Amino acid sequence: MTNDIPNSTKQLLRPPKNTSNSWFISFEGIEGAGKSTHIQRVASFLQNRGFDVILLREPGSTRFGEKLRTAILGAQTKLHPIAEAYLFAASRAQLLQEIILGKLEQNNTVVICDRFIDSSFAYQGIAGGLGIETIIDIHKHYPLCIVPHKTFYIRIDIETSLQRQIKRNMSKDYFESQGRDYYTKLIEGLDLASQLFTERIVTIDGQKSIDDVYQNIQNHLEKLLAK
Ligand code: TYD
Repeated sequence: MTNDIPNSTKQLLRPPKNTSNSWFISFEGIEGAGKSTHIQRVASFLQNRGFDVILLREPGSTRFGEKLRTAILGAQTKLHPIAEAYLFAASRAQLLQEIILGKLEQNNTVVICDRFIDSSFAYQGIAGGLGIETIIDIHKHYPLCIVPHKTFYIRIDIETSLQRQIKRNMSKDYFESQGRDYYTKLIEGLDLASQLFTERIVTIDGQKSIDDVYQNIQNHLEKLLAK
């Protein structure tokens, strides 16, 4: 399946040029993966290194994007996956245009985004059934074709996700109220994305202790910053 997508299609997506020691990174993972914890740690690490750190989340982080976030995550009716895909893409395009691209032109800046295009691959592409190529197709126009320099995919299995969800006991949004099969597809989607975009996506074993997971992320980050 991974070989089904031609390189010329994959190459429609590209990271921004790095001319000012500024980096764009994203975090992905299913619920309970630990994205928020590690994003906070990475942010402190980078600030201590002298970087200006911009923390963003998807969907959202712009006025328009936050409105879309409320509309999508609070949806009372089932949306068609293509409607979802375009709504997330609209929020993403606005975020790139309003914030990300400008910040990356500043010196020594790191933009960290909690979820980005790979969530669309997993949620709308694989779990929603649109396929990876449709998602790439939606993102082929500038600025949507801009992807992070590095993506940390914190991988956990379904059991771990469900156990952590029970511990948190939080109310569920539109996507989280889905069943087990859905989570299997999300993992499949993120795994597939990481196999397709091997240069960009690094898979981190999220089952390990918080410190081990973080250390692994930091090691990869150090390599990136040394480039
Ligand atoms: P959020 O509460 O931020 O989820 P989490 O805390 O697990 O990161 O809600 C974002 C939800 O939107 C999440 O369920 C994944 C979904 N989503 C998509 O389906 N497609 C996308 O492109 C993005 C960015 C998010």
